[in-house]
Amino acid sequence: MNTPISSSPAWAALVKHADALKSVHLRDLFAGAQDRYEKLHVEADPWLLDVSRQRITPETIALLIRLAHASGLPKKIEALFRGDKINVTEGRAVLHMALRSAFAGDATIQAEVQESREKLAQFAGKVRSGALRGSTGRPFKHIVNVGIGGSDLGPLLVCQALRQEWSGGITPHFVSNVDRTQLDDLMQSLDPAETLVIVCSKTFTTQETRANANAARAWIAGALGEASTKDHFVAVSTNHEAMDAFGIARDRRFTMWDWVGGRYSVWSAVGLIAELTVGSERFAEFLAGASAIDRHFTATPFERNLPALMGLLAVWNRTFMHLPTLAVLPYDQRLDRLPAYLQQLVMESNGKSVTLEGGKVNYPTAPVVWGEPGSNAQHSFFQMLHQGTATAALDFLAPLRGSSGDTVGQDLALQNCFGQAQAFAFGYEREAVDADMRAAGATAEEIARIAPHRVHQGNRPVSLLLYPRTTAHALGSLLALYEHSVFVQGVIWDINSFDQFGVELGKKLASGISLTGDPAPAGMGAAGLAALIVYVRKVRDIAGRGK
Ligand code: F6P
Repeated sequence: MNTPISSSPAWAALVKHADALKSVHLRDLFAGAQDRYEKLHVEADPWLLDVSRQRITPETIALLIRLAHASGLPKKIEALFRGDKINVTEGRAVLHMALRSAFAGDATIQAEVQESREKLAQFAGKVRSGALRGSTGRPFKHIVNVGIGGSDLGPLLVCQALRQEWSGGITPHFVSNVDRTQLDDLMQSLDPAETLVIVCSKTFTTQETRANANAARAWIAGALGEASTKDHFVAVSTNHEAMDAFGIARDRRFTMWDWVGGRYSVWSAVGLIAELTVGSERFAEFLAGASAIDRHFTATPFERNLPALMGLLAVWNRTFMHLPTLAVLPYDQRLDRLPAYLQQLVMESNGKSVTLEGGKVNYPTAPVVWGEPGSNAQHSFFQMLHQGTATAALDFLAPLRGSSGDTVGQDLALQNCFGQAQAFAFGYEREAVDADMRAAGATAEEIARIAPHRVHQGNRPVSLLLYPRTTAHALGSLLALYEHSVFVQGVIWDINSFDQFGVELGKKLASGISLTGDPAPAGMGAAGLAALIVYVRKVRDIAGRGK
C-alpha cells in the first residue's frame, strides 16, 4: 500500500497553514499587502483569474503546488494525455481531449476522431442546407435531443450559451426527464414532418432515454407512418445492437469510444445537436477553445496554470478550509445551465470516498456544487451567502462583453459582479453600519436594535474568472478549465474521477419496483415500500387515473 497523501509532509504543512489562516480575515490580508492583487491573479490571454479574495496568501499557493508535486500531478497529467488506462476500476483510458487536441492520444485515435469529425460535419451540413429532409420532403427545422446526464447537459449548455450564434433555421430542443413532460410539451408544438430526433446515449441502455425515445418514435410513426422513422431518427451511441433493434439506419449512426466518459462527451458526437444548431465552423471554434486550454494545462508551470490553480484552490477550500459547497455564479444569463453541467462534472467525477487503492479517504472530497446566474441569484439565495451561518466557496464568472456587444445591461452585470465580490470578501463591519445609520438620522436606540442585523461578516472566499465574451471559443475553454480543475482535484484526493458506480444502486432498485404491486417488494424495508405502493394505487384510483 502506498503511503496516503494525507500522511505526507506537504499535506501536514497545509493543515498547519490552514489552521493559522482560519482566524484571519480577508480585510487583514488586504490591509497587510498592497500588492495582493498583483501576486494573486493570473492573466492567461484571454482569461483573467483573480484569487486575491480567496482566504490564502502567496505561501498557500506555494504549499498547494508542493502538494501537487507530492501527489505526482505532473506525471499524472502526462499519463492522462498519453492515454494510459487511468480509469482503473473500468480499465479505460480517459481521452476526451483527443476529440479537440491533436496532441492527445495516438495516431490511430486521432485518425478515428478525424473521420468521425468529417462524418458529423457532413451530416450537419446536409441537414442545415436542406439537402437532407424529412420523409415528406420538408426540411428539418427542429432537432430534439433525447438523452440524459452527459448526453443532455453538455449539448444543452452549448446550445443555450451560444444562442446568439444559432443559424440555418434550426431550433434545438431537449428531452431528458423520464416523467415525459418535456416530450409531451414538444409534441404539442412541433410538426413531426420538420423534426429530427437524436437518440443520444453512449450505452443505449439508459432507462430514461429508452422510454423517451420509444415515445418519440411512436409520435413520429403515428403522424408520418412507420416507414418514416428511419428518416427522422439518428443516434449517437456505441451500442450497435440496440440501435439495430430501435431501427436506426446504418448511415444515421454516430459512434464514440469507451475512452470518452459521459460527462466529458460534449466534444464527441454527443455535441451533434449543437453542431446542427450553430454550424460546424462554430463547433470547431468550441473545440479549438478547449484545445487552447489543453495546451495551457500541459505546458504552463503550476504557478500560472489556470486549471491547476483552480483545482488546487478547490482542494484548499474543501479539504483544508472545510467548506462544504461551491456556488457557481455566472454573470451571463446564457450560462444558465452551467451550474447544472458542473454539478455532474464535479460531483459525478469526484463524489467518491475510496482511494485508487480501495482504502477509505480520511478527508473531504467533492463539494456540493450549486448556483444560478447573477444578478438573479442576488435576489434569492445571496442573503444566506452573505449573512447565513454556513460559508460557501464562490466562483464568480463574467464575460466583459454581453453576447450582443457592449450593452448597458452587461455593464450593470459587471458592476453587480464586482460589488458582490467586494461585499462577500470584506463585509460590512459594525462600526461602518453604526456610522451609516447615524448619518441617515437613526437614533442611538434604533442603531442598537437594528445594526446587528445589518452587519455582514464578510470573509467569504471568492474567485473571479473574467473573459472577453461568451463565444464558442470561450465556452470551449471554460468547460476545459473546469474539466482539468476536476482532474487536478481527483489526483490530489487520490480517487478515480472517471467511474460512477454510485449511480447504479438506485437505478437497479427502481427497475425492480412495480406500481401494480406485482411482484410485491422484497428485501430490507419491503413492508414500508409495499405501503407506499398501496398508497399510490389508492390515490390514483381516487383520482380516476388508473393504476
Ligand atoms: O447517470 C449515470 C450516467 O451513466 C452518466 O454518467 C451519463 O452521462 C448518463 O448516465 C447517460 O448515459 P448514456 O449516455 O449511456 O445514456
